Amino acid sequence: MPTSVHPETTKIYSHPLWIRCLVIKESFSPHKKREKAGFPDEYWLTICFFVFMSNILKLVARKTMSLYYGVLRCIKQMDRNARFFASVAGISGSGLARKRSIRGFPMIEKKKVPFIFLNGEIIPFEEAGIHPLNTAMKYASSIYDAWRGYWNPEHGELYLFRLREHLERLLRSAKIAQIQCPYSVEEMISHHLELIRSNGLREDIHSRIILFVDAVDGGLYSTTPMGVVMAAMPLGRYFKDESRGLHCCVSSWRRISDEDMPPRIKAAANYHNSRLAGLQARHDGYDDAIILGRDGKVTEGPGYTLFIIRDGFPITPPVTSGILEGVTRDTLLILFPEVLSRKVIEREIDRTELYVAEEAFFCGSGAEITPILSVDRRPIGDGNPGPLTLQIRDAYFALVRGNRDFHREWLLPVYDTTGR
Ligand SMILES: Cc1ncc(COP(=O)(O)O)c(C=O)c1O
Repeated sequence: MPTSVHPETTKIYSHPLWIRCLVIKESFSPHKKREKAGFPDEYWLTICFFVFMSNILKLVARKTMSLYYGVLRCIKQMDRNARFFASVAGISGSGLARKRSIRGFPMIEKKKVPFIFLNGEIIPFEEAGIHPLNTAMKYASSIYDAWRGYWNPEHGELYLFRLREHLERLLRSAKIAQIQCPYSVEEMISHHLELIRSNGLREDIHSRIILFVDAVDGGLYSTTPMGVVMAAMPLGRYFKDESRGLHCCVSSWRRISDEDMPPRIKAAANYHNSRLAGLQARHDGYDDAIILGRDGKVTEGPGYTLFIIRDGFPITPPVTSGILEGVTRDTLLILFPEVLSRKVIEREIDRTELYVAEEAFFCGSGAEITPILSVDRRPIGDGNPGPLTLQIRDAYFALVRGNRDFHREWLLPVYDTTGR
């Protein structure tokens, strides 16, 4: 047995692997004499073994690393996908908005009700059906309106807030869209009260009425027959944690205008514009969007009007700026001077005014009064809900819930238990 390493052994290891293999191959060749390499057989076997093992180890290491990176890539992709779907659903975001997002996905917890109103009848909710090829489905020939009802546990009463004004707006929408409404305001109120009582609702609700052209396989210009749906559904706050507020962006989509798709009317088709802006905002990591008109001036959010506070005064765009004539907006025009002794200024708002505003908030029947905490990642004020926003919101909630003795004419009690 050899007791020392042959000098050729170290020499051969100083060569690259492919040369080592060649030498080994050569030495095993029947045409060459092994002695030519000058080593005994044991050395060759040891060298072969180590070369073989080092190649195996290299292979294993390479495979392990590629498996590791593969798994890592897979996890990252899954995370990206999850974040994409979550942000589309408004569940999370990125950057400033993601860290502080309220994850406000509207109407996430929906309860069912037993009854719905369809074409003059109150029928079981599950049995309501319309033909999928009617004109409304094909050409979005429908208009609607929506309002809220607030449950007051002390009064044991459900108050519908400014229902008459919402139904009057519905009739104005119908007139502009040339859609017939088969009912008067009084008839609609009476059907709605009957529906809520049938469902026995004793909690906060959100209601809507939809007028739609129900011609089966109808044409673009069909106007009859008309369908009417009315629903009253339990609903708490629209945003999951509306008291904290929203991180918004200015959308790259522009608001539809009175010249093409009048935003003054509440037509289902208008919400295509709202969806584009809202979905993009959520996808980009914001909670919601503020939409500018073609002139670059601020209009509103996808489903709510907007107020800012500058120099202590509330400012909101005029009704001619491409917005829905909001009932909540109108309510605040009255509440601000009455409750906070501040007149609302109705004027155009520039985009950059959003960045320097002291406060900003959205308002609407669904969204109620929801503070805006940042726009395009610039904090509004100190980045918290502003004092005037909080005061007007408190006044609004006290009013709509029937806890303040003013503007009782705006509240319609459903059960009329107290005779108020
Ligand atoms: C586009 C749009 N703007 C504003 C509003 C707020 O209107 P209102 O206060 O009458 O609910 C809504 C509410 O549905 C809306 O959809």
